[in-house]
Amino acid sequence: MGEVSADAVTLNLLREAMETVRSSPLGIINTPLIPWCQTTLPLSIDCNIFLKLENMQRTGSFKIRGVANQFTKRPKGLHFVTMSAGNYGKSFAYALKHYESKGKVVMPETAPVSRANLLQEDKMIFLHSYDDLDLIAGHASLGMEVLEVNSDPDVVVVCCGGGGLLAGVAAAIKLSGCAKTRIYGVEPEGACTMYKSFIEKKPVGMDAKSIASGLAPPFAGRLPYELCQRYVEAIVLVSDQEIKAAVSTLYKSGLVVEASGSAAFAAIVNNKIPELEGKNVVCIISGGNIGKDELADFPD
Ligand SMILES: Cc1ncc(COP(=O)(O)O)c(C=O)c1O
Repeated sequence: MGEVSADAVTLNLLREAMETVRSSPLGIINTPLIPWCQTTLPLSIDCNIFLKLENMQRTGSFKIRGVANQFTKRPKGLHFVTMSAGNYGKSFAYALKHYESKGKVVMPETAPVSRANLLQEDKMIFLHSYDDLDLIAGHASLGMEVLEVNSDPDVVVVCCGGGGLLAGVAAAIKLSGCAKTRIYGVEPEGACTMYKSFIEKKPVGMDAKSIASGLAPPFAGRLPYELCQRYVEAIVLVSDQEIKAAVSTLYKSGLVVEASGSAAFAAIVNNKIPELEGKNVVCIISGGNIGKDELADFPD
């Protein structure tokens, strides 16, 4: 997958992936897109926020979309392996059963790649959790779904880890013809690989640390980086404190959202996105896998 260029991501490819996601055996749903006012919690911000609730998606996050497309594009019955202790691993494990395949989710994203290579020598096929064309095309279905309800949003705000989600959503929106829509990526201050990649004009890595573990892989993906360069306005940063406060605000509004899933909302409420006044703003809530012990650690 290393050689695929951003040119391979066409509207036709994304439409095809959307069909695949919708018809997959994984029971992926068209998640609600709700206006913030539906939550009844007041917010002192002068724009119309719409939340895309992927915390309500099957397996609790958007990752299942890309995974459905990855599995559909590969022959049945193979042995797969991946590195992820998070939402990707959960969706991958769920998909194995439904696609009659075998596989292993073997280690956290921080584990050395050399160990994954050993598994490949055992004839297992490695599936990447963010730098993969099929995965990104599957994630793009989220952007297409947004446009089905809100055909020309002013602003779309998406959190970014390795960049697969941001790349897919941004490509879907721009290739669908929304030339004026501004798309922002959001990263934690302590895990800002895409932000640094934009500055250095190539995908880079860092010793990433954040409470939002899903947003803290050690490298920005190469294909995600190329697509984000093309379609994303800018990457903005939020602190772990701002993320924690966002988790609490969303919880008070009736939404159970994990730290990674709250970062885009944190950026909006902390005025990190320029010129939002009076605009229609779509905020992707990317996941809700959080336990009550973890929630109890967050501010009131
Ligand atoms: C809830 C959630 N949001 C966002 C991300 C980031 O996705 P990506 O690595 O495609 O940028 C992850 C990654 O695991 C996640 O679990």
